[in-house]
Amino acid sequence: MNDPQGGGQAPPPPDPVWRRDFPYTSAGEDEVTRREFVRYLVLACGGFAAGNVGVAVWASLRSVNRGEPRPIVALDQLPENQAHLFNYPTGADPAILFHLPGRRLRAFSQKCTHLGCVVYFSPESGGVECPCHEGHFDADTGEVLSGPPQRPLGRIDVELREDGMVWALAALGERSR
Ligand code: FES
Repeated sequence: MNDPQGGGQAPPPPDPVWRRDFPYTSAGEDEVTRREFVRYLVLACGGFAAGNVGVAVWASLRSVNRGEPRPIVALDQLPENQAHLFNYPTGADPAILFHLPGRRLRAFSQKCTHLGCVVYFSPESGGVECPCHEGHFDADTGEVLSGPPQRPLGRIDVELREDGMVWALAALGERSR
């Protein structure tokens, strides 16, 4: 606007107080909203990531019950090529002990590693069978021989003591031998 006195352009009026306190235009408000949304998104992602790390740490530090040493059965009550059922490491964990030729003693969790059905010893095949989906495990190593299971049976460490008792020492899990 021209100065009516003929003195050139008038200086722009000073910004109102509200504009100094809240210096955003309409377009700027959209930008602030997007910025805050991204900030919340980053915070949420960080929270989820921290939660996952916490769960992973908790899972790795969680104590696994491997059981206490305890007697299972006297060897003279378990003929060669026969199996004996017991529970280990807790009373809710079905397990199976095999007396294989050559006085080899092997014990495993009785839960199939496919979908958890109960496996049994087959003297005819000399292996461990799962009746649910025809899974087949090696009775000596617990490794999968055929069928859908992908992991070996959970192994239990056993020993024959001088008094003729077979003892369970610890559940070793599914680690490979
Ligand atoms: S549950 Fe054993 S083969 Fe499927």
